[in-house]
Amino acid sequence: MKFFNREKEINEILSVIESEPQLIYFIYGPINSGKTALINEIIKNRLDKSRYEVIYINLRGRFIEDYKSFIKVLFSVKKESFREKIKNFFKGLFFFSSKGFK
Ligand SMILES: Nc1ncnc2c1ncn2[C@@H]1O[C@H](COP(=O)(O)OP(=O)(O)O)[C@@H](O)[C@H]1O
Ligand SMILES: [Mg+2]
Repeated sequence: MKFFNREKEINEILSVIESEPQLIYFIYGPINSGKTALINEIIKNRLDKSRYEVIYINLRGRFIEDYKSFIKVLFSVKKESFREKIKNFFKGLFFFSSKGFK
């Protein structure tokens, strides 16, 4: 379905994005009211992607108790386990050798 009838909200959000960043903004509303569709429309068709980098952080399933844990979730970097590091190291080697022997 074609996206419709959200010009006012789109312009409000764009003006928030374009102003000096100082707060964290939330979009809230009833389920199925179009929050995700609205933000996706802005990211896909309305945002100047040469000026903004969009980062998606899924907060579902994260336990956020207070401001500190919220900040921690936002800025935590998923650490690679030792097993993953070894796996990726060999993956890299294999890629290198398969390229080298062609
Ligand atoms: N402005 C719109 N134009 C067309 N379809 C829309 C619009 N807003 C929402 N929808 C559709 O309505 C459904 C629910 O919207 P969604 O963004 O998932 O809601 P929410 O994130 O608020 O729960 C989706 O199928 C979405 O594609
Ligand atoms: Mg949604």
